[in-house]
Amino acid sequence: MSESRTHVYVHGGVSGTDKPLPSLAHSLVEAVAAATALDGVEEAVRRLEDDSELNAGWGSVLNRNGVIELDAGIADGTTGHAGGVAGVSVRYPVSLARRVMGSTPHVLMAGEGAMALAESMEVLDGTTERQIERYDRALDSGKLEARHYGADEHVDTVGAVAVDASNHLAAASSTGGVFGKLPGRVGDSAIFGAGTYASPGAAVVGTGVGELFLETLASARVARLIEEGARPQSACERVIAYLGTRSDAPAGLLALAANGQVGAAYRGGSWPVEGPSGPLGAVCLE
Ligand code: GLY
Repeated sequence: MSESRTHVYVHGGVSGTDKPLPSLAHSLVEAVAAATALDGVEEAVRRLEDDSELNAGWGSVLNRNGVIELDAGIADGTTGHAGGVAGVSVRYPVSLARRVMGSTPHVLMAGEGAMALAESMEVLDGTTERQIERYDRALDSGKLEARHYGADEHVDTVGAVAVDASNHLAAASSTGGVFGKLPGRVGDSAIFGAGTYASPGAAVVGTGVGELFLETLASARVARLIEEGARPQSACERVIAYLGTRSDAPAGLLALAANGQVGAAYRGGSWPVEGPSGPLGAVCLE
């Protein structure tokens, strides 16, 4: 890490199907110019929340009742502080999560209380035509039933990890959650250690059906391995292999160490991950 710039890595959500990977380069343009890793991940995730093809912010999936309920989390590896929001409806949930971290004594806020903090932020009252049509089709064909929960076409969380010129790390995730989820369901993105984690030694974000990450604290597991000396790539592969022993669901983990080493591994059909030099080529495990 000799250059004085912020290195930011982003992902656009793992999918169970093999599909063309969207470019995420637009999310990195401003982010790499950020002065700190924390600003870098917030900026990158805001751009991903603007992308109508991704399940976060604008473009989020609908829950069982046809309503958006968005979750996001952010973590500052230097201070050890984290912020999360759940069940909110603002255009940039990651910024609301940062407000929880920076302007309240709390770590996690949900629903109405979280929305009360969103003063001066743009409220989001819906999603794209594409998601509305998807919901209508699923309603008509019975695909909103619980047994279809987390189906393969699902594409979920977006996220970013960054390291700045001071070797400080940060991580952030944002999501509409899982298509057809029950109202009130909270996933892993907002939860420190599950879908989002940062410490002085590691920054980690996860993607996949959140229940798997919540029950395993998958992001914290990856970070612990890195803190104990594992390379980020090896740490991600080991935890993805472990998740595979518990569930067939698609899952991805992206991790960064303070020395700038990065790793990304997943199970499933496809997963877009990009960094300062372009697409990262995450390792797919069987
Ligand atoms: N990983 C996103 C969610 O399960 O909500």
